[in-house]
Amino acid sequence: MSLFDQELINRLNAVISASIGIHYAPDRLSDLEKAIELAAQDLNFSDPQQFALKLFQATLNAEEVQAIARHLTIAETYFFREPRAFDELEAVLPSLIEMRRGQGKKLRILSAGCCTGEEAYSLAMLLTGLMPDIDDWQINIIGGDINQDYLAKAKLGVYTPWAFRGAMSEPADRLKARFFRALENGNFEIVDRLKKMVQFVYLNLADDFQAYERQLGNQPFDLILCRNVLIYFDKTMIKPALQRLSRLLIPGGWLLLAATEVPSAGEKEIAQNLKARLHNDVYLFQREGAKSAAINVVPSLKNELEYGRKLLKQGDYSASEKVLSNGLQQLNRLGQERRKLDISLQKQFLELLVRSLSNLGRFEDAAAQAALLVQLDDRYDYLYLCAVVLSESGRSDEACLLLKKALVAKPDFAAASFMLASIALHQGDTLTARHYLQMVSEVLQKLPPESVVECTDGTSVKELLNIVEQLRSGAK
Ligand SMILES: C[S@@+](CC[C@H](N)C(=O)[O-])C[C@H]1O[C@@H](n2cnc3c(N)ncnc32)[C@H](O)[C@@H]1O
Repeated sequence: MSLFDQELINRLNAVISASIGIHYAPDRLSDLEKAIELAAQDLNFSDPQQFALKLFQATLNAEEVQAIARHLTIAETYFFREPRAFDELEAVLPSLIEMRRGQGKKLRILSAGCCTGEEAYSLAMLLTGLMPDIDDWQINIIGGDINQDYLAKAKLGVYTPWAFRGAMSEPADRLKARFFRALENGNFEIVDRLKKMVQFVYLNLADDFQAYERQLGNQPFDLILCRNVLIYFDKTMIKPALQRLSRLLIPGGWLLLAATEVPSAGEKEIAQNLKARLHNDVYLFQREGAKSAAINVVPSLKNELEYGRKLLKQGDYSASEKVLSNGLQQLNRLGQERRKLDISLQKQFLELLVRSLSNLGRFEDAAAQAALLVQLDDRYDYLYLCAVVLSESGRSDEACLLLKKALVAKPDFAAASFMLASIALHQGDTLTARHYLQMVSEVLQKLPPESVVECTDGTSVKELLNIVEQLRSGAK
């Protein structure tokens, strides 16, 4: 039996959606009735009718809004929900990061309708992967939600295995090992270094945001996510909420929505100052404004390349691998036409990535990237690099084929002949080894003894000649 008559429940629906945004379809009004009944109990009303009537007398006060929201909202969320959206963020964030690197190393992100925190923490994990120097940054990720129970759970940062049910950018076990502490009861707690990046605050997206300026830090955001929240809103309240969110962005900042947030499918005009970047069915919008904030991918990728090179030189191979892989992924996402122009950049990324991966001992991965490099350009030094990696991963026969190809392109390529000799010696083929040692010796004798042999790590002609002579006497 209905607690409220039809007219009353319709009016309650309107009053509540004006305060909270959430609006119930006619076939779900019984859920609304239940929520009002539970909220009335929370607020110690013995009669839900009395509470219902009170709701009409004035606009809802904060306590009433919170009590109703507690029973109306839906807690469906999990880590890296909609991986494609995170892939798109991976494509645009490096440019933003690069821009911010020169502006005090600060990043501010808002997860609006953050629920129990999985979205906000996923962002912290994503940034950790993208920014090898994240410890030098001031990262401020704010999760805002109307449901205080969800916020309390988010602050606790303890999750059951169910929170990992989505497809993720990296295997769940790896994520758990990097960012969680396994608890005895089978749950997982976010590690402190991630918790420090994230704060959770009360936020009502149906309200005027001026009330939240302090909680939100009084500064604009570089990125705002609002996903699977406005889907429950009264249609007339979606655009105003999006407009309010867009005003919180820095010029050049990004707004990521779920398809369900966009008022009508494929709509590009959600707020005057936002420019759509619809790709891969992901709804990303960029706030227009200051020219300096416009994202120009290629110059920023050049910076990424140089940063990767620097890390490689410093011997921080795992950081260089991350920076270079990310840069390369971004480059690959650029359109085909554009990529043709950027082919030289792509080759440079690949070369450094192959070196980083080899230094990390990941020879199979290095070989895969080296094969791509050689496909783009089969010049002799790339063939040699690929051969080195193949030989390290035990694929000597394939390495020999590439080395021979390199020698056709450059007959006086001492490093290639020397490597062919070494492989032959290793395989017990002294005849072939002697042939290539002879070739190396002839080439080296024509070069200045103190000069460095090309494609070696600084070995001089004199040093290599000595080694060659020793090997030749051993291979008789
Ligand atoms: C389905 S969850 C989505 C969580 C997360 N964004 C995601 O996509 O996985 C929707 C969240 O929106 C919150 N919400 C609903 N109305 C809101 C409002 N007016 N202001 C702020 N948050 C609201 C709910 O409390 C809930 O946590």
